[in-house]
Amino acid sequence: MKLLVTGGAGFIASNYIRYALSAHPDYHIINLDKLTYAGNLENLRDIESSNRYTFIKGDICDEKILEGMEFDAILNFAAESHVDRSILDAQPFLRTNIMGTYNLLEAARRRDCFFLQVSTDEVYGSIEKGFFNEDSPLLPNSPYAASKASSDMLVRAYVETHKLKAVITRCSNNYGPYQFPEKLIPLVILNAVNGKPIPVYGDGMNVRDWIHVTDHCRAVDAVFHRGAPGEVYNIGSRNERPNIEIIKLILKKVAEILDLDEAGLMDLISFVEDRKGHDRRYAIDPLKIEEGTGWKPEMSFEQGIEKTIEWYISNKDWWQRIISGEYMQYYNTQYGERLKD
Ligand code: NAD
Ligand code: DAU
Repeated sequence: MKLLVTGGAGFIASNYIRYALSAHPDYHIINLDKLTYAGNLENLRDIESSNRYTFIKGDICDEKILEGMEFDAILNFAAESHVDRSILDAQPFLRTNIMGTYNLLEAARRRDCFFLQVSTDEVYGSIEKGFFNEDSPLLPNSPYAASKASSDMLVRAYVETHKLKAVITRCSNNYGPYQFPEKLIPLVILNAVNGKPIPVYGDGMNVRDWIHVTDHCRAVDAVFHRGAPGEVYNIGSRNERPNIEIIKLILKKVAEILDLDEAGLMDLISFVEDRKGHDRRYAIDPLKIEEGTGWKPEMSFEQGIEKTIEWYISNKDWWQRIISGEYMQYYNTQYGERLKD
C-alpha cells in the first residue's frame, strides 16, 4: 500500500507518518509538503532515512505536482491551520484549504483512489450546550473554519457526483510533540519557560475539547481502514476544559518540573483583547467512530500534558530554531499591541 500524505512536515501529519510507518510495516508513505512557515522536516528526522518513506517538496494547489506519481490513497492533512492568521489574512487559507483540496480531489477522481480529508470540529461553529454530532449544521465563524467547511463540501460533492470513495474526519483540539508554538498549549509552555507574558484572550473561559495527537492519528488510521466511504466521523476525547484551567495546569507543572516559583509563573498570566469572532465552546460526540471502527482515545489528559511539557523542555533546539525565525515577526504582530498595557 502506497499512501500519499499531504502536509506531512506539519504537526499532526508528521506524527501520523511516524505512527503509520510503525503500525503498518508493509506501507510506503509519500509526504507531499510545501514547507510553509509551519512545515518543518526536523519533525521527521528519526524516520527520514527509512526506505518506506519519500519526501516531495510541492504545493497541493499545483495541478502538475501529482503527474507520474503512483499511490493507492490520499490522506489530506495539508492546510493553513491557525485561526489567528486567518483573521490577519484569509487569502492563503482559501487557496490551500479550498483550491488545494479541489486539486487533490480531481487527482483522486482521475485515478479512482481512496481519499481521506482531515477536517476539524470548527466547521460546526460554537455550541453552548450538548455536543456536535456528524449531522450538526456547518456554521463556521472564522475564515479558517469557513475554508475547512468549504473543502468538506467539495469532498461531499465528489462523493455524490463522481462516486469518489472518500471519508471526512472532524477532530477537536490537538496537543502533543512538534506542535508549532503559535497554538495555545506550546505557546504557554514556551512563554512560561522563557518568563514571557501569557496572553489569555477575553475572560479565558472559552472551552476546547483537547485530544492527544497520537489518539487523533490512531483515529485517522481507524477511519482509513474501517470507515465507510461517504461518511463523516467526529473525533474527540470527552475532555472539555476552559482555557484558563489549561493554562494554570501547565504553569503548575512547569514550576514542578523546573523547580520554579509557581506564584511567579502565575503572575505571567495576562488577559488581553479577545480574538475576533472567538468561538465560545467546542464539544464533540465521538460515538460514531467508537462504534463504527472500535477506536477509543488511550491517553489521559493528565498523562498527555505532562509528557508534552517534558517533550518541549527537552527539545529546546527544535523550538529555538522556530522562535528565532518568521515566528517572532508573527508574534509581535499578534501580541505586540495586546500585551502593551
Ligand atoms: P500545521 O499548520 O502544523 O501543518 C500544516 C502542514 O501543511 C505544514 O507542514 C505546511 O507546510 C503544509 N502545507 C500548507 N500549505 C500547503 C500546500 N499548499 N501544499 C502542501 N503543503 C502545505 O497543521 P496541523 O495542526 O498539523 O493540522 C493538520 C490538519 O489537521 C489540518 O488540515 C487542520 O485543519 C487539521 N486539524 C488540526 C487540528 C489541531 O488542533 N491542530 C484539529 C483538527 C483538525
Ligand atoms: O478545534 C480544532 C482546531 O483547534 C483546529 O482546527 C485548528 O487548526 C487549531 O488551531 C485549533 O484551533 P483553536 O483556535 O481552538 O486553537 P488555538 O490553539 O489557536 O487556541 C485555543 C484556545 O486558546 C482558543 O480559545 C483561543 C485561546 N488562545 C489562543 C492563543 C494562541 C488564547 O487565549 N491565547 C493565545 O495566545
